[in-house]
Amino acid sequence: MNVVHTLCRAQFYPNLHSGSYNSSHFLRPHGRRCRNKRNSTDSSSLQNLQSWQYTMQLQNFIRIHAIHRQLGFLSKKCGQNRPLILPCHGQKSDRLGDILGKDGNGAWSPETAKNDFSPELNGNSGLAFGSQSPNSEKRETTLKSDYFGNESIDERESAVEREAWDLLQAAMVNYCGSPIGTIAANDPTDPSILNYDQIFIRDFIPSGIAFLLKGEYEIVRNFILHTLQLQSWEKTMDCHSPGQGLMPASFKVRTVPLEGDDTATEDVLDPDFGEAAIGRVAPVDSGLWWIILLRAYGKCSGDLSVQERVDVQTGMQMILKLCLADGFDMFPTLLVTDGSCMIDRRMGIHGHPLEIQALFYSALRSAREMLTPEDSSADLMRALNNRLIALSFHIREYYWVDMKKLNEIYRYKTEEYSYDAVNKFNIYPDQIPPWLVEWMPDTGGYFIGNLQPAHMDFRFFSLGNLWSIVCNLATREQSEAILDLVESKWGDFVADMPFKICYPALEGQEWRIITGSDPKNTPWSYHNGGSWPTLLWQLTVACIKMNRPHLAAKAIKIAEARISRERWPEYYDTKKARFIGKQARLYQTWSIAGFLVSKLLLRNPETIKILTCEEDAELVNAFYCMLDANPKRKRNRKKSSKSYIV
Ligand code: GLC
Repeated sequence: MNVVHTLCRAQFYPNLHSGSYNSSHFLRPHGRRCRNKRNSTDSSSLQNLQSWQYTMQLQNFIRIHAIHRQLGFLSKKCGQNRPLILPCHGQKSDRLGDILGKDGNGAWSPETAKNDFSPELNGNSGLAFGSQSPNSEKRETTLKSDYFGNESIDERESAVEREAWDLLQAAMVNYCGSPIGTIAANDPTDPSILNYDQIFIRDFIPSGIAFLLKGEYEIVRNFILHTLQLQSWEKTMDCHSPGQGLMPASFKVRTVPLEGDDTATEDVLDPDFGEAAIGRVAPVDSGLWWIILLRAYGKCSGDLSVQERVDVQTGMQMILKLCLADGFDMFPTLLVTDGSCMIDRRMGIHGHPLEIQALFYSALRSAREMLTPEDSSADLMRALNNRLIALSFHIREYYWVDMKKLNEIYRYKTEEYSYDAVNKFNIYPDQIPPWLVEWMPDTGGYFIGNLQPAHMDFRFFSLGNLWSIVCNLATREQSEAILDLVESKWGDFVADMPFKICYPALEGQEWRIITGSDPKNTPWSYHNGGSWPTLLWQLTVACIKMNRPHLAAKAIKIAEARISRERWPEYYDTKKARFIGKQARLYQTWSIAGFLVSKLLLRNPETIKILTCEEDAELVNAFYCMLDANPKRKRNRKKSSKSYIV
């Protein structure tokens, strides 16, 4: 099966193995050829698969049949009166802790991992944090109360945490008898579930991190490998197919009667690439999160075999190629349509929204660590490095605002036709919104939400800013300044519940035009200035990275006082997050998982390294070379001693 799978990819996407980096080489897939019921690689089986594809193309959803020996399953028929044909060989012992800890090769065990890990000694290469059950007595107790100043963290698991673990467990979904993900919400009070009973890629990230930190690797491994299989399948909307590397926004496990056998059922995966989603939005962030989770899995478990697999390497390359493909754009930022990320509705974030850029940068940095050095990936690696440099320069230079920069924009000259224009994007100073003039503190700054020709979206988008700290898209100074801003504007970002998705809300005419009068995105609700408890985990990673964990601890304390009593809402409304969101789901899984991850990270701050990136010397050097080449800076900067060929 492994071989067939590899052959399928090699045959249908030859450019992935040819070493040429050119998006125009992509062949359209002809269907779901990798569906295999037979463990054979002979030509007749491939022909069968080819004819079978045409039938399958007519179907409007994709079925990935539950026969994945590659993942350690045998075909599983779930007939009522039949014994299960069991999930196969050693599925239980597939737990990395069991395998690697016992094989005596010294590669990994929870104990050695713990002893080996030293942030100072291991630098950024920290691997394998090992199993750290939240119930474990042996939990690291590095955090002292005084570490947080006045906000101490209770080392013992609270009742709220215990409830959260139970709820997370209850949200788990099985596929062929093994856990594969968590549903978005498990709200028994809500009659209209829409697609909240599906496993969303982005929503699973905090669940996955919580499981990793708990030492439960199997669910994350399954999630990574099964979603990878969804990636290469045909997806169309009104006869149009998006790019091949696209990962679905969500998928559902359906149990259906087995064709030709009414005593048995089979599990099928039914993905949504946006073709059923409200507004038909493309989930650009899914593939980026997938790469980030893949790296976290390897670092946390010590199992690098997943990221080294040919199909995983190929999947990663497909995502990268889709993102790095040449287009008409002049900017190194990723050009996307509205609603392509966590904010998956019309909110005026089409173009180059910060959240996508931060995830893009993070995924590029992660992939750079994981791509195996083969001839075929040399061109890709070059493209990736160049993009990283250009992207970080672009965001750090042009998205950044603080008092000083705002004053510069305020005095901008416009209509500069020249190669060395200072106001490159022809921003009219009148665009500085009145609220910002009052709101911007003397110390602190942030990345704006979006930059387009003659347009700066000055709204503060939280995920983009926090993740820029985490993945080092922001410089150290910028990261400090973002957290300074968070601290000084605590009442706006946190108030009664962390954390506001963006600030401020769109109101009046702006709301009407930009959201299309969206009744779900009314001012200070949902995506339009609502408060999302899930953002707590990204806040926590950022705060720990910048050595300000007390900020995160303060936010967690606020959440913990309410969130369980109010049944884990998806989001909160009003300026100060006083009400449970108008249409918020209860028992929202990523609210639960985000809280758990924050707690776990605060207790073991060194584990943030599965998610963070540090400044890279090569990239810094290249960045300064570009700064020197920038006419605005040329006047007052000394030339860098080192040069870098981009
Ligand atoms: C909403 C959110 C989206 C999330 C989904 C499932 O659509 O905007 O980010 O993935 O719900 O929770």
